[in-house]
Amino acid sequence: MLTEAIAKLLSASDLPEPPPQDPLPLLAAWFEQARASGKYDDHNALALATSTPDGAPSVRMVLAKMIEVERGAVAFYTNYDSRKGRELAANPRVAGVFHWPHAKRQARVEGVVERMSPAESDEYFHSRPLLSRVGACVSRQSTEIGSRAELVAGALSLAKAAAGGAPISRPAYWGGFRIMLTAVELWSGHEGRLHQRVRWSREPGGPWRHALLAP
Ligand SMILES: Cc1cc2nc3c(=O)[nH]c(=O)nc-3n(C[C@H](O)[C@H](O)[C@H](O)COP(=O)(O)O)c2cc1C
Repeated sequence: MLTEAIAKLLSASDLPEPPPQDPLPLLAAWFEQARASGKYDDHNALALATSTPDGAPSVRMVLAKMIEVERGAVAFYTNYDSRKGRELAANPRVAGVFHWPHAKRQARVEGVVERMSPAESDEYFHSRPLLSRVGACVSRQSTEIGSRAELVAGALSLAKAAAGGAPISRPAYWGGFRIMLTAVELWSGHEGRLHQRVRWSREPGGPWRHALLAP
């Protein structure tokens, strides 16, 4: 019985063998399958780690808005003056992880961030709902505030101005980052902790090389 269960593992592969040369199409496919499954409120939730100037790790969730296959990048939007924004200005290296538990899948990504152009950030900012735009304008993300009431009052006053026709433009401190990927690791869970792991890595812009890793 046990031997049959173990033998079955060989046919229960969730990763192509041999692995593709470029991991981006596969990463994008997993991301899209998680979205299409309808099982996640935020299929694009990415735990993103940065580091402080003295080397301490710092992690929070962001929403990955795009997997850019041709560019080899993952894109997200934030406040450039936030804690993560300041940490990234000092050290652009990041690591992140997606987790899709219903599919027993994890995807780790590593790379170096680049800011999007102001035009690209503008385009995304103006595609967002009004309330999200107002929120981005009134929240000096990661700074200390006196009270929540103060924050909400700021949002209300800007919303009233917008209703009166005032334009809500993108603050210069808010915009997109691209993680230019230098490593991708896909993990697929199997019985007996005999999971599958493939790690791809490359120098920035160089060719990918991959290796199967013990789980
Ligand atoms: C599911 C989820 C998604 C989030 N997405 C974003 C995001 O896309 N951009 C962002 O700036 N903050 C996002 N946040 C809030 C961040 O986790 C974090 O609180 C905020 O960016 C401040 O982080 P910092 O002080 O390290 O800069 C999200 C939080 C959660 C729980």
